[in-house]
Amino acid sequence: MTTQSRQQQKQKTQQKNKPVTKIGNIEIKSCSALAPMAGITDLPLRRLVRKFSKNCLLTTEMISSEMLMQNRPDEHQKILVREENESPLAYQISGHKPEMMAKAARILQKSGADIVDINMGCPVKKVVCGGDGSALMRTPQIASDIVKAVKDAVDIPVTVKFRLGYTAAEQNFFEFAKLMQDSGADAMTIHCRTRSQMYSGTADWKAISKIKNEISVPVFANGDIVSPQRAKECLEQSGADGVAIARGVLGAPDLIYRIEHYFSTGEILPELDISQKIELLKDHINDEIALRGEHVALQFVRKFYPYYIRGIRDAAVYRGTLVTETSYSKIFEILDTIVQKETAAG
Ligand SMILES: Cc1cc2nc3c(=O)[nH]c(=O)nc-3n(C[C@H](O)[C@H](O)[C@H](O)COP(=O)(O)O)c2cc1C
Repeated sequence: MTTQSRQQQKQKTQQKNKPVTKIGNIEIKSCSALAPMAGITDLPLRRLVRKFSKNCLLTTEMISSEMLMQNRPDEHQKILVREENESPLAYQISGHKPEMMAKAARILQKSGADIVDINMGCPVKKVVCGGDGSALMRTPQIASDIVKAVKDAVDIPVTVKFRLGYTAAEQNFFEFAKLMQDSGADAMTIHCRTRSQMYSGTADWKAISKIKNEISVPVFANGDIVSPQRAKECLEQSGADGVAIARGVLGAPDLIYRIEHYFSTGEILPELDISQKIELLKDHINDEIALRGEHVALQFVRKFYPYYIRGIRDAAVYRGTLVTETSYSKIFEILDTIVQKETAAG
C-alpha cells in the first residue's frame, strides 16, 4: 500500500468513526437509523440489522403506554427484551396522556432504553381515534405536555417522530418541530408525508429543508429510502442530519450498513444474493421461534417471506406455498430448494 493510499484509508476510517451526531449525551456514530415498525422491529429483526451495522440507532416497535400499565408480564417481556450490543437503542411509546406516558417512559428506562421516542406520526385509524400517533399534531399543546412530562420522568434523551402534518392543508411540521424542541425533545424524526397520505404518494424530503435553520437538535428525515443513493438524495434535499429507514430493511437488513459504507467510502456495495438472504431468513425464523414459540412464530414470520424472496424466479409460487405451510421442516426444505434452484439457474 502506498503512503497516499494509506493516508486515504486513514481519512476514510476517521470519517467513518467520527460521531455523526449527538442525541442528548449519546453519540450516534451513524447517519442512518432503523425507524420503528409495529410487529416488525422486534428483537430478531433488530438483531439482523445490528449484525451488519454496529453503530446505527435502532428503534423498537411502538409500545402502547396503556398496555405497559396493564399486568401482562409475558407481553411486556417480548416487547421490552433487548441485547447489550443494541445500543444505541430507542424504545418508542405511544399514547396521549402526559402522566401515563411519563410512567411508561420510566418503565422503559428501567428496561434498558437508551432513548425514549414518542410516536406522533402513526396514521392508523384506531390509533388516531384515541388521540395518539399523528392525532397529536392536531393537539400541539398535549404533544408539548407529553414531551415535558416524559423529559421530567427520565434521565435519558427523549425524541419524537411525527409527519408533515395531519392533512395537506394542515402542514404544521415547522411550528411543531420548534415546539417539540422548546418542550425538550433531544432529536426528531420526520416522515415526510401527511397523515392523510398514509403511505401513498412519495415522501417530500424537500419540504423539511428549512427546518435546520430553526432547529438545533438532530433531525432524521424518513420515507422511501430504499438504497444508498436514495439516502444521499434525501440528505441533500432535506438538509437533515440523518435518515431513518423502515420498509427498506425488509428482506435487506444490510441496507443501513450499505448506506453507511457509501457515505464513508463512496462505494456502492452489492445487495445480498439469494443464498445470503435465505440464511438470514432462517436466522430470523429461528429467533422468532425462540421469542414466541414455534406455533405463533411460524405465523408471525409469514409477512416477511415476500421481501426475502422478492425478485427471484417463481417468487409468487414460493410465496404461496410458504405462507400456507405450517411445518418448520417443510418451510426449511422449501427455502433450501429455492437456494438450489436459484444457484443452479445462475
Ligand atoms: C408495518 C409498519 C409498521 C409501522 N409501525 C410504526 C410504529 O410503530 N411507530 C412509528 O413511529 N412508525 C411506524 N411506521 C412508520 C415507519 O416508521 C416509517 O415512518 C414509514 O414506513 C416511512 O418510512 P419508510 O418509507 O422507510 O418505510 C410503520 C410502518 C410500517 C410499514
